[in-house]
Amino acid sequence: MTDKKIIIAANFKMNKTHVEVRAYLNSFFKKLKELNININDKSDEKCIETVAEIIFAPPFTALNEAYNIIKENIEFGHLVKLASQNIYFESAGAYTGEISIEMIKAFDCLYTIIGHSERRWILNESDDLIAKKIFAVFNYSKKKDLSLIPILCVGENLDIRKSGKAFDFVAEQLDRALSYSKNNLNSNMQNIDDKLMDKNIIEIDELIVAYEPIWAIGTGAPIEPEDGEKMHKFIYKHLNNNYSIKNCSVIYGGSVTEKNINTLMKKEHIDGVLVGGASLDPQSFFNIYKFAVSK
Ligand code: PGA
Repeated sequence: MTDKKIIIAANFKMNKTHVEVRAYLNSFFKKLKELNININDKSDEKCIETVAEIIFAPPFTALNEAYNIIKENIEFGHLVKLASQNIYFESAGAYTGEISIEMIKAFDCLYTIIGHSERRWILNESDDLIAKKIFAVFNYSKKKDLSLIPILCVGENLDIRKSGKAFDFVAEQLDRALSYSKNNLNSNMQNIDDKLMDKNIIEIDELIVAYEPIWAIGTGAPIEPEDGEKMHKFIYKHLNNNYSIKNCSVIYGGSVTEKNINTLMKKEHIDGVLVGGASLDPQSFFNIYKFAVSK
């Protein structure tokens, strides 16, 4: 049993129409209601031991539907949150095909995934673009007093892992993603200590880092839990040494299933998971959630 904040997130990627998302979420909430009986009955062997936040990142076209179903199941509103799979950094204008932060906040998204490896490598998203998106999210939360939390994805490919440079690569990805925020958020801060500037200190309320090694995504071959723990510990240390983040979580993504969730979640620095393929079936994702929080 652990008291760390656990995050179990589903990334549907480019799967499911809004009609399919409705059927999926109805089925998922039904299972959650059944499990709730066990939450209240402490004598039940299956009673849950810890609470995890469940995040759904459906395609943009299904956000409205998902938002409505979460409202219909308001008793789970503290547990189940919405994320967008992406945002654009500008607030409005002639950006055909893009979606603004205001647009996803209208559906009460608390999270947004930024810099997923599929966007980096298939859609050619640059470090620079990712850094601007991260800054836009922090800036929006600061100005509007409405929380939007980035789930920043990082992770090396197989060649980098084999060359032994995975740690340096991930540190660099983190710095590139956060550097624009460092320069721009700090320039708005008054009386900033020079020493803090040197140390890259920026004030961030909340950040989730999703460590997703590219070689593990969709391959059926997840990272060895021990290797995952090493990288997560490294990410924590790097962020602590260089940034000031009030609430930080580091979650793992890459071939997570109901079979491997338990061993991954036993690791001290693995705060949760971002699940792609195995999240597409409500029973399989529900099992992942249940195994992550059960005795
Ligand atoms: P996967 O995807 O679970 O299908 O490996 C994870 C992700 O890309 O977020």
